Amino acid sequence: MHRAFVTGATGFVGRAVIQALRAEGHVVRCLVRRGSETDLHGFEAIERVEGDILGPVPTLEAEIAGCDTVVHLVGIIREHKTRGITFDRLHHLGTRNVIVAAAAAGARRFLHMSALGTRANARAQYHRTKWAAEEAVRASGLAWTIFRPSVIYGPGDGFLSLLAGMVRRMPIVPVIGDGRQRLQPVPIEHVAAGFARAVRAEASVKQTYTVAGPDAVSMVELLQMIGTVMHRRVRLARVPMGLMRPVARVLHRAPTFPVTPDQLLMLEEDNTGDPTPFYTTFGITPMPLAQGLRQVLG
Ligand SMILES: NC(=O)c1ccc[n+]([C@@H]2O[C@H](COP(=O)([O-])OP(=O)(O)OC[C@H]3O[C@@H](n4cnc5c(N)ncnc54)[C@H](OP(=O)(O)O)[C@@H]3O)[C@@H](O)[C@H]2O)c1
Repeated sequence: MHRAFVTGATGFVGRAVIQALRAEGHVVRCLVRRGSETDLHGFEAIERVEGDILGPVPTLEAEIAGCDTVVHLVGIIREHKTRGITFDRLHHLGTRNVIVAAAAAGARRFLHMSALGTRANARAQYHRTKWAAEEAVRASGLAWTIFRPSVIYGPGDGFLSLLAGMVRRMPIVPVIGDGRQRLQPVPIEHVAAGFARAVRAEASVKQTYTVAGPDAVSMVELLQMIGTVMHRRVRLARVPMGLMRPVARVLHRAPTFPVTPDQLLMLEEDNTGDPTPFYTTFGITPMPLAQGLRQVLG
């Protein structure tokens, strides 16, 4: 039996990872920020410790003590600079803190959440800081595994629900740019199962996995597929990137504005890759996107 320490446990991915870890028979201890406790309603059989990955490392170390595995999920898609919440602090500094604390606490396994598109010279700050975090993980001396998902979908997600909401409510759905860039949405339960099975899968030590569904689709194709599942005719209107960029630069500080300049940079890139090693290593059968959409939206 393993005891896994989970950061980001209260998030969309974290809640699914807790369930998957428990289904594999592991004991779960979650790092929970003050005030976020209610997000773990219904998860009674887990240990909780209050803390913050940007807090003092000795505190984190004491909280990790007794766990052999650390599952590090914390990440942000949007900065709030006035509150000191930046990509660099959350992704890079935060990951370094957790690594140092994990090593000092005697944990062996380190399962790290990155993102597809992460690379040294990426255009988006999100991807560049995820790369810096990955580099810290690789240099850590821990038995690491890195997961790089494309966009993740499932109940309570931020992406598919946004698109489905637009298809449901809007007579004309805006598509940013030409909408031809492709992505490979992956169901949350497969992402979570990968993390949970990696705890025991020694073959996954020092490996980096592309985590993606079997179907690569453009944003336009995805919106049409959502329309089919929801029995709605989807009419699209393209919003040129040249128009969107200055608008996002001004409005992205409003929490309700849906995209940031950094996200626009990512939208201009394909977000695809070969997920075969992920499925074979963890014994997961890929789910066709149409089937996954029916399960979530149908
Ligand atoms: N969702 C996707 O499609 C997707 C795709 C690729 C990669 N990822 C990566 O997957 C990870 C999880 O994403 P998600 O969608 O589950 O995000 P989410 O729902 O926003 O969850 C983020 C989690 O991080 C926690 N957190 C934030 N700042 C923290 C801090 N200073 N100390 C401790 N915990 C902190 C949040 O806690 P609170 O509840 O206290 O705010 C929450 O539990 C991220 O690293 C993300 O980059 C996600």
